[in-house]
Amino acid sequence: MEDCKPKDKGAAEDAELAKAIMAHRFQPPVKVSEAWEGYIFSGLEICIKESTDFYGAVLWPSAMVLCHFLEANRDQYNLMDKNVIELGAGTGLVTIVSSLLGAKVTSTDLPEVLGNLQYNVMRNTKDHCKYIPLVTELIWGQEVEQRFPHATHCFDYILAADVVYAHPFLDELIDTFDHLCQENTQILWAMRFRLDPENSFVDRFRQRFHIEELYDLPSLSIKLYRAWRKDKMTHGCSGETAA
Ligand SMILES: C[S@@+](CC[C@H](N)C(=O)[O-])C[C@H]1O[C@@H](n2cnc3c(N)ncnc32)[C@H](O)[C@@H]1O
Repeated sequence: MEDCKPKDKGAAEDAELAKAIMAHRFQPPVKVSEAWEGYIFSGLEICIKESTDFYGAVLWPSAMVLCHFLEANRDQYNLMDKNVIELGAGTGLVTIVSSLLGAKVTSTDLPEVLGNLQYNVMRNTKDHCKYIPLVTELIWGQEVEQRFPHATHCFDYILAADVVYAHPFLDELIDTFDHLCQENTQILWAMRFRLDPENSFVDRFRQRFHIEELYDLPSLSIKLYRAWRKDKMTHGCSGETAA
């Protein structure tokens, strides 16, 4: 019986945390003119319009996990006035929640996803945020240095939810993290584990970055990581001491 205790405790913590994360969802009223999903973060009802055309136009549970973490740990990971970039922003929930928490967000994705992303971001941040997020194209591995030169772009945080799965651009994705992650940048990255490519991605990621596991949610098959360059971290891009 003794051996079962830690495992049971882990399962109970997982269930409790997963329940708290999923509680951010709310159902839209039955009669609405367009389909949308509802989420509550930072005391605000956030309406997310999904589209079934592209992967990025659907909201994935990893985004909720990352948003829950940012809200629950807003003191330790204070986003106020921080420079943040989101990769593969999809329908924009992480961008919206980070903006509500005071960050200056650059929200990026493939060109075909940007219309819906911009719509959701504007709808939910206008009049609610200190900084209106910038929605812009970033195709992993393509013209990253030209579009985000180190001389002018220094991010305190890189956020990413469910960008690792069986797609052919995993090398480009690692190179993009590598370029954007400067000495003082922290990566917060929620990842759903489906197949082997996810595991080998973490191993390859570990070769370039230190990794800390922040959440492990077996019931959702999701882990949340913090990562940073193997060089020493001192001060954030916005001049404050990093967490
Ligand atoms: C599974 S979705 C996750 C979307 C969102 N982060 C979420 O959690 O709801 C993966 C996202 O990565 C984007 N993506 C896929 N391949 C990409 C690439 N080569 N360059 C940039 N973004 C890409 C997709 O458009 C999509 O928005």
